[in-house]
Amino acid sequence: MERQLRITPISPNIGAEISGVDLRQPVSSPDYEAIQRALMEYEVLVFRKQHLTSEQQVAFGKQFGALTVHPFSPNRSDLPELIVLDNHKDNPPRLSDVWHSDETFRQDPPMGTILRAVITPELGGDTLFASMTAAYDTLSGPVKTLIEGLDALHDFKPFRTLFGEDPEGRTKLQKMEKQYPNPLHPVVRIHPVTGRKVLFVNPQFTISLQGLKEVESRHILDILFNQAHVPEHQLRLHWETGTVAFWDNRSVQHYAVHDYCPQRRKMERITLKGDIPFGSDSHPLPEVWPRPEMSYRNEDEIPDTSRRHFER
Ligand SMILES: [Fe+2]
Repeated sequence: MERQLRITPISPNIGAEISGVDLRQPVSSPDYEAIQRALMEYEVLVFRKQHLTSEQQVAFGKQFGALTVHPFSPNRSDLPELIVLDNHKDNPPRLSDVWHSDETFRQDPPMGTILRAVITPELGGDTLFASMTAAYDTLSGPVKTLIEGLDALHDFKPFRTLFGEDPEGRTKLQKMEKQYPNPLHPVVRIHPVTGRKVLFVNPQFTISLQGLKEVESRHILDILFNQAHVPEHQLRLHWETGTVAFWDNRSVQHYAVHDYCPQRRKMERITLKGDIPFGSDSHPLPEVWPRPEMSYRNEDEIPDTSRRHFER
């Protein structure tokens, strides 16, 4: 009997599980269309019990676009597109327990990331995801007005700690700074496919808002970063060996929970090349996809809590 691809939402505002497809095989045209569409709608796709080899994971990813090589993360020498994240008592996890979109220090941050669980801890090691589309939608009108048209400066700041203080380390760092100069990205990014607005700043790589005083920038960024913390915007993914997650890195942030050490957690990741982010001042803008039913409240429904305080 032929298997049918099924899409099952797993959280009201972000995430769907995809079953009925074997990622070891080339994806058929109808399945490819369905996966692409689901990625735009649900932003994070979860595939269970996909026991791929590293090579099969790379082959799966290549069907969705060109893969990139991470400039700082450990990879396999014979398969440079594959990042190997192998954490255990002698190599505790680091740098990923901060909300972020992958590699926004690039001029053209990745379009998507595909992460596969190879070895999972018995307890812990989940990943949290946040829809930055929901994060934008639920801002109040005045804050939306304030951030429209602003640009933010990004930097590979967490990876700076990987370079030594010695002359060799400093030379290597300078080389990377030349290769990855700080990009300016719009704070409100227009998703190039869905046309929806996305909040595109993250505490791992965004360092300041352009044209604002340092103190203003810091406080406004705090408000914006906090949007990823809202549980209604989130999905918490529990990994089992063979779980594969494919997320739209343009509209999603994630946070790897560092609660499993000294247990081992081994993951393999590939990254799809993206394009240069643009805001609503760009032309022509993509047509906006109708917004799906979302369970969060939009700005018009947010109660005015400050007034309530005075009426008490
Ligand atoms: Fe990441």
